[in-house]
Amino acid sequence: MRETIKMLELAVSAAKEAGRYAAEHIDKVKKIEHKDGVNNLVTDIDKKCEKIIIDKITEIFPLHSILAEETGEHRADSPAAVKWVVDPIDGTTNYAHGFPIFCTSIGVLFEGESLIGVVYDASRDELFTAERGGGAFLNGKKITVSSVELLRDSLVATGFAYDAEGKVANLDYFKAALSRVQAVRRAGSAALDLCYVASGRFDGFWEMGLSPWDTAAAHLIVQEAGGTVSTFAAGAFNIYKKEIAASNGKVHNEMLELFKYESGNSPNSSS
Ligand code: IPD
Ligand code: CA
Ligand code: CA
Repeated sequence: MRETIKMLELAVSAAKEAGRYAAEHIDKVKKIEHKDGVNNLVTDIDKKCEKIIIDKITEIFPLHSILAEETGEHRADSPAAVKWVVDPIDGTTNYAHGFPIFCTSIGVLFEGESLIGVVYDASRDELFTAERGGGAFLNGKKITVSSVELLRDSLVATGFAYDAEGKVANLDYFKAALSRVQAVRRAGSAALDLCYVASGRFDGFWEMGLSPWDTAAAHLIVQEAGGTVSTFAAGAFNIYKKEIAASNGKVHNEMLELFKYESGNSPNSSS
C-alpha cells in the first residue's frame, strides 16, 4: 500500500518534470526523425523526456522493469512484479508542429495488471491520475464520465494509425460515426482523448493500431472514472491489444455497433 503511494507520487513527479520540459522546448526542437514508417515521428525532446522519466524511476526503484516507447524494454528479466509503461510525449506529430495537444503518460502494472495511471498535459497544467480501486482525478478533484445516454447526443473522438492501411481501415468507422453522433474529433493524442472520456469532455473514443504506452495509463483512468473500455468486439481490453473502444458506458453498445460495418457496408452506403 505504502509502496503504491510512493509509485503514484513518483509517476506524478516524473510526468510533470518531463511534461514541463516538453512544453518549455516546443519551439526548440532540434531534430525530427522518422521511425518505422513515414509519418511516425520522434524528436530529440521525446528522447530527452523519456530519459528524465527512466532516470527518475531507476533512481528510486532500480529493480522495476520499464517499457518505454523510444528505448524499449529495460530490465525485462527483472524478478520485480512491477512494470512501468512510458510514453514521454503522446502526440509527437502535434508537438513537432507546435500544436499544443500532447501529454506525458506513465502507467504502472503489478503482476501484469494495471495499478496506476498518470497523464500530464503541461500546456493546460492538467494532471489526470488513477489508482486501481481508488477512483480517477483531475488536478486532485474526482472525475466521472459523462451521463449522455445516446450516441446521437455524443461528442466522440478517434485517432488514425501511422500506416496507410490502418488509416484507410478507420475511415469506414469514421464515416459510420459521422452520421450517428453529434460530432467527431481527432485531436492527435490517444492518452488525452481517453482522459477526456474519463472527465466527461468526450462521451466515447476508439482507435486501432495503438501500442501499450498509448493506453497503459489512460485506460485505467477511464475505468476508474466509471467508464467502459473494451475491444471493438466487446472483449476484455488489455494494453497489448491494438484496438480500444472507451466510453461513458451508456453509449458503449451503440458505439460498438459502428464497428460492425465492413467496408462498403456502412450506414451511409447506398446499397
Ligand atoms: C500517437 C498519438 C495519436 C494516435 C497514434 C499514436 P505518439 O502517439 O496517440 O493520437 O493517433 O496512433 O501512436 O506517436 O504521438 O506517441
Ligand atoms: Ca503515443
Ligand atoms: Ca510518444
